[in-house]
Amino acid sequence: MFPFKTSIKFDRECNQALYLQLSNQIIQLIKNQTLAPNTKLPGSRTLAEQLDVHRKTIVACYDELLLQGWVESIPKKGTFVHSSLPVLEQQKLDNAVVSDLKNNTGFSFYKYPILPKKAPKKDRTIMYLNDGVSDGRLTPIDEIARTYRRVCSKKNVFDHLSYGSTYGNDTLRDVLVDYLNTTRGLHITKDNVLITRGSQMGIWLSSQLLFQKDDIVVVGNTNYGAADATFLNQHAKLERVMVDEHGLSTRDIENLCKRQQIKAVYVTSHHHHPTTVTLCAERRIRLLNLAKQYNFAIIEDDYDYDFNYNHAPILPLASHDNNGNVVYIGSVCKTVAPVFRIGYLIASRDFVDEASKLRGYVDRQGDALLELTFADFIKSGDLDRHIRKVMKIYKQRRDLFCKLLKDELGDFFAFEIPKGGMAVWTKLNPNYSWETISVVARNYKLEIGDWQRYDIEKLNHNCIRIGFATYNEEEIYELINRFKEIFNEIKTK
Ligand SMILES: Cc1ncc(COP(=O)(O)O)c(C=O)c1O
Repeated sequence: MFPFKTSIKFDRECNQALYLQLSNQIIQLIKNQTLAPNTKLPGSRTLAEQLDVHRKTIVACYDELLLQGWVESIPKKGTFVHSSLPVLEQQKLDNAVVSDLKNNTGFSFYKYPILPKKAPKKDRTIMYLNDGVSDGRLTPIDEIARTYRRVCSKKNVFDHLSYGSTYGNDTLRDVLVDYLNTTRGLHITKDNVLITRGSQMGIWLSSQLLFQKDDIVVVGNTNYGAADATFLNQHAKLERVMVDEHGLSTRDIENLCKRQQIKAVYVTSHHHHPTTVTLCAERRIRLLNLAKQYNFAIIEDDYDYDFNYNHAPILPLASHDNNGNVVYIGSVCKTVAPVFRIGYLIASRDFVDEASKLRGYVDRQGDALLELTFADFIKSGDLDRHIRKVMKIYKQRRDLFCKLLKDELGDFFAFEIPKGGMAVWTKLNPNYSWETISVVARNYKLEIGDWQRYDIEKLNHNCIRIGFATYNEEEIYELINRFKEIFNEIKTK
């Protein structure tokens, strides 16, 4: 029997729940094969006694492992490490990446395929659909302002007003090391951290460093449009693989690897954009194994790690990457508000060094005062408190929105209830078109926005993302009513 008593360590000072501390440690044991597939886990009573915790902690931990797909429960027999988990292969790779900085000369300039982002007009009578953003009214703006003020009133503030480091503020890098190691099971030091201005900068830097002309990057079918555009802009070639309810198809990726050398896989490990599905535990391991076997990078865009309503977040691929295959990207822009351009790129030291040089070309440094503010905001536990608070609210909004969408508009829309995130991937009944709806919607003061962007691959899936998190209860009812009126008008035409 595995010695859980001596192997599991609880940190009772840290604010992560005990059942999560336990499930994360068991996941690590499964991933490093200390607990092999089919291993029977002790009964909840036995383990509770061994670890000196309440039995409910063990039950909650096993439920969590079950939901994330790490274990299976066999009636009358007990809980077992999932039988079909692939083994995570360990092998050392040279993780140095050669960067290719391009020079543009002459007076021609590029025309980019993506649309410029303009702020929507601020007409309060109009409802604007969005693809999943936080509700600005819930942003802890007072706490952030107070912290900013405190940072500015410190004696040493003057040290931060001059030119700083292209890696970002040192204090925030230190705080992120602790925070990400605790919450995401990473094993990083400051050398692995570059502060960015949001996830998009991380995607761009990775793309610049990784891709030369015609290098292949594997993305989902369909995928986050801004990432596609960023890779294409670097003249990489997109290869699309299927996305089902468990995320990117690792079988399709393996088949691709057998045919040609791929340079990277781009994956949104939680709530794939746009379909909202989460990459399951088994595929995370398979993808890591493939990356090691076929020498490709994984750009892990974990932009939406925090908002999970059915189970705790699944530890990132980066948490078990000993070889530097994974470039892990995240930010507070979804969690707190998009206006705070604070993000991070976590990778091997070599990669971070190059990325840091490169960011200096476009942005000499970040905003040190804001970075210090967020260092304090994270360290004091304010960020976690904020996440806990809004998560409850967003879950209620998701439940209400999905219920009404089904009950009131079920003839027109089909969807799966998203397990996390801020949007529903909504399929319109094929007898209707978004084109017509977006025109009629204006009569009802509803702005559908740029719906075409969800189908640049021309798959004709007739789906768009509808964000629910920005609307309070009253607004959700209002939104559903406006849709009902729109369909009534279209039907009577
Ligand atoms: C999949 C995905 N990645 C990255 C981002 C960009 O996030 P940020 O605001 O941190 O740049 C978004 C924004 O919607 C997103 O949907």
